[in-house]
Amino acid sequence: MNRAARIRAPRRNHDADWNAWPVDDYLAENYRSLHPCDIGVIHHHSAFYRRFEPGSVARSLEFGAGPNLYPLMLAAGASRRIDALEPSTASVRYLRDQLDRGPDDSWQAFYTLCRELDPRLPATPAEALARVRVVPGDADHLLPGSYDLASMNFVAESVTEDFAEVATLCAAFAGSVRPGGHLVAAFMERMPSYRIGTGPRWPACPVDASALRSVFAPLTEELRITRVAKDHTLPEYGDTGVLLLTARRPAPHT
Ligand SMILES: C[S@@+](CC[C@H](N)C(=O)[O-])C[C@H]1O[C@@H](n2cnc3c(N)ncnc32)[C@H](O)[C@@H]1O
Repeated sequence: MNRAARIRAPRRNHDADWNAWPVDDYLAENYRSLHPCDIGVIHHHSAFYRRFEPGSVARSLEFGAGPNLYPLMLAAGASRRIDALEPSTASVRYLRDQLDRGPDDSWQAFYTLCRELDPRLPATPAEALARVRVVPGDADHLLPGSYDLASMNFVAESVTEDFAEVATLCAAFAGSVRPGGHLVAAFMERMPSYRIGTGPRWPACPVDASALRSVFAPLTEELRITRVAKDHTLPEYGDTGVLLLTARRPAPHT
């Protein structure tokens, strides 16, 4: 075998079987209890949503929602309708079940914190989630400029090993909002490809704040990137913390 053949090509987004995403194991490792990094993300995102009057955002997007309900709960502080875009049949099934039957009890601790920080949220998580519509599909299904606000949590950097494809996914996310629209996001910092439980390896691309800045600065204004320290209560995914981003898509010049 020659050297070129031994160097493995980066695994791209469509090389992974997202329909086989291990929802139960992912929830068990990340979201069955409130971890310090969730507290950091919730504080950051809640401050972002509190800038908006309740109900003032007509349509918002959760890009690659997966089975994570807390970004959807937070969005209910501002949004009248929230589209949860998700390609995985396993995660779509979980989301639909949570919306139909009511969220698992384990989400209550997340909602209690969301509502402590934003008392304008409805009394129950089920009421907050009533604004959510599950949209099966991926980045390729997005109509540019169709949302007022978009949120993305642990997606672009956690679904491909190819940095060019991370940038393309971030551009689709940023382009999903209208000119002047708002963005909020969280990224694993410097995380390589990872396993959930004992399952297969999922493709990821290590990114840091300067890589995110290089991707988002040409696409946005009011770009702000902060970080939350590494969470040692989570399994060792090889990350160095969480990066948090807010930005706006430039408004047209008048
Ligand atoms: C690491 S999980 C993050 C899930 C969730 N957002 C969270 O906060 O835990 C990555 C998610 O991105 C979804 N995904 C994979 N490829 C995608 C694509 N091309 N467009 C949109 N979402 C994608 C996966 O199905 C999965 O739900």
